[in-house]
Amino acid sequence: MKEDLKRILAEAKERILTTKSLPDLQNLKSSFLGKKSELSQLMMKLRELTPEERPAFGKAINDAKGVLDTLITKMYSRLKDAEINRQNKDMSVDLTMPGRSLNKGSLHPLTLVWREIEDVFISLGFEIAEGTDIEDEFHNFDALNTPQDHPSRNLADTFYVENKQLLRTHTSPVQIRTMETHEPPIRIIAPGRAYRNDKIDATHSPVFHQVEALYVDENVTFADLKDTLNQFVVKMFGPGTKSRIRPHFFPFTEPSAEIDISCVGCGGSGCRICKDSGWIEMGGAGMVDPNVFEKVGIDSEKYTGFAFGLGMDRIAMLKYNIKDIRVLFENDLRVLKQFRNENR
Ligand code: PHE
Repeated sequence: MKEDLKRILAEAKERILTTKSLPDLQNLKSSFLGKKSELSQLMMKLRELTPEERPAFGKAINDAKGVLDTLITKMYSRLKDAEINRQNKDMSVDLTMPGRSLNKGSLHPLTLVWREIEDVFISLGFEIAEGTDIEDEFHNFDALNTPQDHPSRNLADTFYVENKQLLRTHTSPVQIRTMETHEPPIRIIAPGRAYRNDKIDATHSPVFHQVEALYVDENVTFADLKDTLNQFVVKMFGPGTKSRIRPHFFPFTEPSAEIDISCVGCGGSGCRICKDSGWIEMGGAGMVDPNVFEKVGIDSEKYTGFAFGLGMDRIAMLKYNIKDIRVLFENDLRVLKQFRNENR
């Protein structure tokens, strides 16, 4: 029996050490250590030995089992490591391969001018303020000194939501919200969407974009307004661009003006873009009406301020030579892709 044990152990060692795969190892484990293995059968034969011989031989069998078990465990981790190495090798990255090129997107022309406008005003010391597209009548009209019977309040002009809520018809309510919550000096711009019940055509869209500017402090004058506008148009459209103001009326500013810039197409000599006038209309402006200051609790004896609102769609169209405002809303990829190189 001792001979048997020796032989079994030698054979098992040999076969375990030469296994090539994990499933083979698993099979060897059950054939050498399982219930039907030769070692287990030897255990059964212990009965045939004398009581004196039994313990020593029992121990010898158990030792042999222990030796095989350790060997199998070692072999298992060796094979496992080899397998992982093989997998890693299969999946390994070839760093010399050329990269896959990404399909780079482009920013919308409106986003481009929006960002540029913000940069220009930040460089002039303004901060960015935000409002909400859904407003109430107070902030959109009442606080802006708009009379109850003003035509802009009509259903035909303004989209009402419910409970006297509406889609803001301009970005001017952001002036009110800023002045309600901040003490002068205030120097903000508020770019964003505005909505009017307009018929769609090449220059009108029921949703459009404005940028509002507001500067409130002691001794702010009309000259500050003109200078700020001039600086803005030069930075936005290049040196030589001029701005001018014409008398106008807005309920929330006094005096009020409309803003023109010299035509970006012809520089002022007259062309199709400016309908031969040399000027292009850009928006409205004026000195904040004292009635507005009163509505938001700012002392109109101490403070003055200017405000203006410019059409951002108009700015984008001029800057990128877009003839029809609908182009900005249709999102035709063939158009948008042309702005790829403009992206910052
Ligand atoms: N809110 C005016 C409009 O939408 C523009 C404007 C803004 C005029 C600020 C004066 C001052 O037409």
